[in-house]
Amino acid sequence: MIRPATEADLVRIEQLFGLWKFRLNNERAFSEHQLGRLIWLVAEVGGEPLASVWGELFPEHERSGRTMHVVAFRVHESIRRRGVGSALLSALESAGVERGRSEATLFVAQDNKAAQELYKKAGFRTVDARFARWEFQDPAGTSHVITEDQYVMHKMLVPALGTIGSHSP
Ligand SMILES: CC(C)(COP(=O)(O)OP(=O)(O)OC[C@H]1O[C@@H](n2cnc3c(N)ncnc32)[C@H](O)[C@@H]1OP(=O)(O)O)[C@@H](O)C(=O)NCCC(=O)NCCS
Repeated sequence: MIRPATEADLVRIEQLFGLWKFRLNNERAFSEHQLGRLIWLVAEVGGEPLASVWGELFPEHERSGRTMHVVAFRVHESIRRRGVGSALLSALESAGVERGRSEATLFVAQDNKAAQELYKKAGFRTVDARFARWEFQDPAGTSHVITEDQYVMHKMLVPALGTIGSHSP
């Protein structure tokens, strides 16, 4: 069952995916979810939130209000390769369209071939590459820096104006 995340999911997701270090980020994202600025969906399997994804509705790198940015997409190891990730991403795309988004973007590590394959199958195309540097604090106040070579991927969720019907005879 795919559904919006609840406060109870926060603790369980942290435990299931070993995300203690990212607690402050997850709490911030949950606040944004409650404020309607981010869509946080989970796939519940056997009563547990075993897959999770965020769709940022107001991503920092995009000001037009058209785009949803896909972040923090993870499926628990115990249920991978069963289509759960694809179903969750598809549900997020539909939720983004309902919220008026016509495009989706995401960043994926250049060495993460599994995720790239899933995104390609879902209709995302690589449009750019970038070097990302991300700084955050864990709950104990220790700072961490993550750096990553990434691809930028993009998908039209709704056909662009002018292309609708363009393939009709
Ligand atoms: C990437 C991830 C979300 C995929 O979730 P999933 O539920 O296993 O994905 P699906 O079962 O829907 O897979 C759909 C397709 O993606 C591709 N794919 C998924 N995992 C793959 C793997 N390990 N190797 C190669 N292709 C893979 C396949 O084409 C697959 O279709 P198939 O199983 O019919 O061959 C999951 O592996 C994960 O959580 N990884 C760690 C976190 C992560 O990398 N997140 C993405 C950050 S950008």
